[in-house]
Amino acid sequence: MKVTTMMAGGLGLSVVLLSACDLPGRPPAGPEVQRPEMVRSFDVLYGENCAGCHGKNGDHGAATNLANPEYEALIDDASLRDVIANGEKGTLMPGFSTKSGGPLTDDQIDIIVQGIRSRWKKGDALNGQNPPPYKAAHGGDVSKGQAVYAMACARCHGNDAQHVGSAGSILDGSFLALINEQTVRTTIIAGRPDIGEPDWRNHIPGRTMTDEEITDVSAWLIAQRPATPGQPYPNAQPTSELPGETQPQATKGNRPSKASKP
Ligand code: HEC
Ligand code: HEC
Repeated sequence: MKVTTMMAGGLGLSVVLLSACDLPGRPPAGPEVQRPEMVRSFDVLYGENCAGCHGKNGDHGAATNLANPEYEALIDDASLRDVIANGEKGTLMPGFSTKSGGPLTDDQIDIIVQGIRSRWKKGDALNGQNPPPYKAAHGGDVSKGQAVYAMACARCHGNDAQHVGSAGSILDGSFLALINEQTVRTTIIAGRPDIGEPDWRNHIPGRTMTDEEITDVSAWLIAQRPATPGQPYPNAQPTSELPGETQPQATKGNRPSKASKP
């Protein structure tokens, strides 16, 4: 008796499972409902995962100009793949491999690397000149970096965050919080032709910048990051700790403070 009931129950269940295939709202089978890990089109993969920060066509984005042939000449396949898979520490570049918690398979990362290369790597982008290596061989000397900044950057970017040059400030704390030493190095060497940042041959009138200078100025710039980037009132109390009438320090001047009352 017991056994028959179980069999009947089992039968009923499979009927439900079978008819579930025809339930309304179920997407039809076919190539247009590709699972995300099956997507193999560079345009789709790049458009959905990269374009928002690096620009639809690899330029004019907030982050590195990937379509810059000088950049493509500077970085090798292994480093390019490594950044995409694992992200860039200290910046907003996330790791995209499933191992890093990202959405892309190894295959899809390969498709992106090949797509970037075939579209944007051009023959002899550097006219036979050898740029300094993509990665710095050692840490920079922060104390020497400031003089390099004055010589190679200040004429366009200004002497300090208060005296901004024609190319805008790169000493702004919020900007520095978005990038790391590698970003500065990459930007100096390959330049950003999309926005007018020169390459390493054109920062100092009359000569190229040396590897050492690039390493030192990159270290110095990142050392200028404030402790609380993006926080205009570094001395203000966090709002969560404000009881009743107490005002954050930055707005104190707007109201008579208790101490100033007679
Ligand atoms: C949330 C924004 C964001 C997304 C999305 C993003 N990136 Fe980035 N990426 C950054 C930032 C920020 C940096 C570091 C600063 C810079 O290079 O301008 C960076 C750096 C990089 C670098 C290294 C640049 C160097 O210094 O050599 C590469 C290569 C790169 N991204 C490729 C990609 C690719 C390919 C994708 C899509 C799979 C992608 N990024 C998606 C923000 C992003
Ligand atoms: C001949 C003028 C010039 C010199 C010299 C120069 N830059 Fe720039 N740089 C620019 C311009 C123009 C931009 C684009 C500014 C913009 O888009 O608002 C720029 C942008 C940048 C950016 C921002 C890129 C981004 O992601 O928005 C960085 C970083 C940078 N420069 C670093 C440097 C450093 C470091 C030096 C010195 C080693 C330097 N620059 C020297 C003209 C210059």
